[in-house]
Amino acid sequence: MKNMNATASAPAKVILFGEHFVVYGTPALLAALNRRTTARARAIEQETIAIRSDIGVSADFAHGGVRIRQGGEAAKTVLEAIHNAVQRGLGAGCKGIQLDLKSSIPAGVGLGSSAAACVAAVAAVDSLYGRHGRRWICKSAVESERIIHGNSSGADCYVSTYGGILRYSKGRYSRVETPKKLPLVVSSTGIAHSTAALVKGVRRFREADPGRFSEFAAEARTICDSATKHLRAGNVKQLGPLMLRNHELLREIGVSHEKSEELVELALQAGALGAKITGAGGGGAVISLAASRADASEIARKVRRKGYLSIEAEIDSEGLRRQPALRRFSEEMSGAPA
Ligand code: MEV
Repeated sequence: MKNMNATASAPAKVILFGEHFVVYGTPALLAALNRRTTARARAIEQETIAIRSDIGVSADFAHGGVRIRQGGEAAKTVLEAIHNAVQRGLGAGCKGIQLDLKSSIPAGVGLGSSAAACVAAVAAVDSLYGRHGRRWICKSAVESERIIHGNSSGADCYVSTYGGILRYSKGRYSRVETPKKLPLVVSSTGIAHSTAALVKGVRRFREADPGRFSEFAAEARTICDSATKHLRAGNVKQLGPLMLRNHELLREIGVSHEKSEELVELALQAGALGAKITGAGGGGAVISLAASRADASEIARKVRRKGYLSIEAEIDSEGLRRQPALRRFSEEMSGAPA
């Protein structure tokens, strides 16, 4: 082991276009946001993996068993995923680990809090040894996060690792640069959801009506292709109608919620160019796109006035951060895509 302490942090995400359909291989566009989960790993003498956090979950894993200290049974799956992430990062010569997680990402609202926790946890533990680059960390985090989200696409871990705006499909991604700022607003319905349950619900929809689902998926792909072009060209205004149509498709496959509909409506009335569910839906969060920063703060203010949590969001171009940094891999330094 090279270091006794290491820290890593990974950002939240929004899905701009293509959630749910991405599970079946359709591309999605994702953006990392400027809210982070930080994991600090420390080598300890006890044969224990001790997880502590400010997100309401804590436990000690030792000798094949678990003692949950915070969060009760409801926290078990998240803790198992984080424990799995720690184990993936572990190398020889380490008796135990204390992992401390701190997060400014609200959980269960579609902002990728579990992906950020898994990416940060694998990376912090791996940084004790300084062995692996981002690609390995990302793939490991995808496996750990599947403990929580079941049959997930892996998209959330990719954007949390690489940052910026990514076009993602089936474990491959490319960066999408845009010459314009995207003034985004993220509003929460206040209803926590289970991504795994929503993904299962969409699977049932697809099994019941494969023809309709593939029509929707084809349209989601076209939307993603147009959005990619408009982002690259800086045609921000053109993204609004695409967001609205994407939202309708999500409603069709059953993942909207009356509160999501209300938030989309509120954002449009407040002057948004477009708005849609972001992430799994079933409550969770809605993103809106504004024409300017001033418009974004006006939208957030109006949504808050109706009693919802609503924040302006900036895109985080950095993704995973680690201390100590890994210098052996050029990908680590540049963040260049695979
Ligand atoms: C969840 O943030 C995004 C979903 O598309 C699921 C996934 O991609 O695994 C709903």
